[in-house]
Amino acid sequence: MGENTLLDALNWFLLLEKGQVEFYHHLSQATDDAELCHGLQRFKKVEEEHVKVIAAKINILELDQSRIKKALGAVASAGLPVFGQIVGRVSNLAGMANMLKAGYLTEKLAIRDYRKLINAVDDAEIRDMLWSNLIDEESHCLWLYKKAKELKKQRLKT
Ligand SMILES: [Fe+2]
Ligand SMILES: [Fe+2]
Repeated sequence: MGENTLLDALNWFLLLEKGQVEFYHHLSQATDDAELCHGLQRFKKVEEEHVKVIAAKINILELDQSRIKKALGAVASAGLPVFGQIVGRVSNLAGMANMLKAGYLTEKLAIRDYRKLINAVDDAEIRDMLWSNLIDEESHCLWLYKKAKELKKQRLKT
């Protein structure tokens, strides 16, 4: 894999992870349920860590800063970092269940893309970082799926 392609891919993940930080931050603010709130805040911290390690790799690869800005602009217009606005106040159980499902689907996309990049990248250190992030996303996926299901059950009872 060429260095430019790798940088483009890492930039994509940087933006995706930043979107995840926003998403979990806003979603954690939108619930009174202590477990959900703590879980989502914990996810936010993990996603912040992902942002940090990916950004560090990009810096090591000496990405031209103007390209980061250009990529950020492209994703902003694609709507990724506006997760917070979408979340709004989803205080009812159905709304929260749907947002957890949306988080689950986004994690699944991230997992798919991490796997693709792992298979394409030669650098062992970068592959290790991608694996580490991938495993975190897998655990997020399972938790979100479980919590969405629990909320749906609760909703049926009320
Ligand atoms: Fe992540
Ligand atoms: Fe995640």
